Amino acid sequence: MSMIYDMNLNPQKISKIPKMNPHESHTGASPANPLIPKRGIITKITTETPDVKTFSITGADGTKPFTPQPGQLGMLSLPPYGEAMFSVTAQNDTHIDMAIKAVGSLTNALHAVEEGQECGIRGPYGNGFPLDFCHGKDLIFIAGGIGHAPVRSLIRHCVEHRTDYGKLTVVYGARSYADLVFKDDLFDNWPKVDNMDIHVTIDRPEDGWQGHVGFVPSYPEELALPPSVSIVCGPPIMIKFALQALTKMGFKPNEVITTMEMRMKCGIGKCGRCNIGSCFVCLDGPVFTQEQLNAMPPEY
Ligand SMILES: Cc1cc2nc3c(=O)[nH]c(=O)nc-3n(C[C@H](O)[C@H](O)[C@H](O)COP(=O)(O)OP(=O)(O)OC[C@H]3O[C@@H](n4cnc5c(N)ncnc54)[C@H](O)[C@@H]3O)c2cc1C
Ligand code: FES
Repeated sequence: MSMIYDMNLNPQKISKIPKMNPHESHTGASPANPLIPKRGIITKITTETPDVKTFSITGADGTKPFTPQPGQLGMLSLPPYGEAMFSVTAQNDTHIDMAIKAVGSLTNALHAVEEGQECGIRGPYGNGFPLDFCHGKDLIFIAGGIGHAPVRSLIRHCVEHRTDYGKLTVVYGARSYADLVFKDDLFDNWPKVDNMDIHVTIDRPEDGWQGHVGFVPSYPEELALPPSVSIVCGPPIMIKFALQALTKMGFKPNEVITTMEMRMKCGIGKCGRCNIGSCFVCLDGPVFTQEQLNAMPPEY
């Protein structure tokens, strides 16, 4: 029997976290101790796929808990299940969104809560995507599965500031139609955007699916996409093969941007959990160019 059932998770049984220190900052974590989260409320839960839900999180004062740049992250906690890093996929004045896949203790517990659940939230963390570098250029977004979560914030930014960027191309795939996240954007919102192409693929044929079938890494080559700035996010194996394919297609290593998922604890460069040599993924990343990754020790 899995851990989740052993814990007999029931939304009513999920503990409410204690009230936060009244002197805490309302724009991020406590100024006295940056590891202490501020109080958040999960105001909306949207089911994306059988194992991914989007959580909209509002600060205790009714505004968004912090203001991230595209590609930045937040630490979300739910005592006693723990705390973990998640990408912010979208934001507005009242909340930030995180799309979370149920994989373990914390994430399964989050999938069992109901709207109104209190949580802890701190951030923003990480370097985010290089907006200045992307400015004015054609951008190709390549994502697989839950890897759509980090890249979505940048796609939304480009759509909102449409004239600041060239052609936008999205190549996204998942195991099946049911596993595609953010279907509204993929099939309804983004196809209407000027000079923006959306290419969706699933791994295997299935009844009712009229679109492309095949793995994400080989799809850009099938589409004969011309080399330009590309942003690649997804499971490590997908990133590995996608980077190899882009290299073969003539994409320049300093124009291929990706995100690295290392296990993290503090998120602020203190615990040493995520360092690679002198580089701290939580501070210097998680966004790196292929050129930067190539210069890292071979095991990464
Ligand atoms: C920079 C960054 C951004 C992330 N963004 C997202 C996101 O937007 N959405 C999302 O769903 N998840 C994201 N993650 C992954 C998320 O943090 C983990 O899934 C989470 O820590 C799992 O916590 P848990 O307590 O549920 O799992 P645990 O019970 O701790 O672990 C369950 C299983 O998952 C493995 N695991 C846990 N975390 C990681 C990890 N970081 N890398 C590899 N394996 C891991 C464990 O080894 C174990 O096998 C991100 C991680 C990082 C570092
Ligand atoms: S997560 Fe602690 S140093 Fe990066």
